Amino acid sequence: MSEGRAAGAAAGGAAATAAAGEAAAIGGPTVGAVATTGTAAAAGAAATSAFWGPDAAQRIIVALDCPPDEARLFAHQLAGRAHWLKVGMTLYYEAGPAIVREFKEQGFKVFVDLKLHDIPHQVRGAAASVVRAGADLLTVHAAGGLAMMQAAAEGARFACEDGEGTRPLVVAITVLTSMDAASLAQTGVARPLDEQALALALLARQAGLDGVVSSPQEAQALRTLLGPAAAIVTPGVRPAGSALDDQSRTATPAEALRAGASHLVIGRPITAATDPAAAFEAIAASLHAGH
Ligand code: C5P
Repeated sequence: MSEGRAAGAAAGGAAATAAAGEAAAIGGPTVGAVATTGTAAAAGAAATSAFWGPDAAQRIIVALDCPPDEARLFAHQLAGRAHWLKVGMTLYYEAGPAIVREFKEQGFKVFVDLKLHDIPHQVRGAAASVVRAGADLLTVHAAGGLAMMQAAAEGARFACEDGEGTRPLVVAITVLTSMDAASLAQTGVARPLDEQALALALLARQAGLDGVVSSPQEAQALRTLLGPAAAIVTPGVRPAGSALDDQSRTATPAEALRAGASHLVIGRPITAATDPAAAFEAIAASLHAGH
């Protein structure tokens, strides 16, 4: 596995090094670099595809949005294949921090996706709490504002200094991938969706966070904006031909990675498959094949 702090190396240059230092504000398993392939370069995306390469399948995070027993079964089926699992609200609110510890003990990296959004004091405490549970990656809503995101970063840092292990990545939700221009406008945001996502990403960077969660459709612009070391986590990923479910702004796994995503969150295309392990392997193969 090539995860490490060398994210800047593949993209190269002093800017990359500077950005890597910036992303290390929270530290932890900072997104790693894998060699840029000819396929990606041919697509004209060399500058934004530092996460493309033979280890690309390790960038898949499988979202287990289901009850605990089902999640444990998925973990069993995906052991030795998937590197990352995602525990979101559906699972965490029922199983609590114990499920994070359980998956960590099985060797998975765990993304605890609770999308924190509350007053800074509450978010500081919540971030510390999920870090103590063992989260490698956690989320806050950028719409909660600068002070709230800074509080999340502080809480995560505090919990790490208190304990052992590597520091997690703290990333901000920009605009939910289930939203489109019309649903964003309904919330009172007048500017275009992509501008809103970029503005929130800048705010997240100002707060010292490690990156953002966004649609794959904004990944390339975000990669350019945030530099090569930022974590860009993209849900809304759908293999060619699979159901969109409630996602609006989607791309295939290869498209998302090529656009500059560092981590791909994929749930139902794997968990709703008749054979989840085979579905995971098919996506991994599509990444290797580059389509
Ligand atoms: O099943 P599916 O692949 O649509 O799952 C996507 C996962 O990504 C869900 O767990 C959802 O909570 C999460 N997510 C998202 N959009 C965001 C942030 C996270 O869909 N903006």
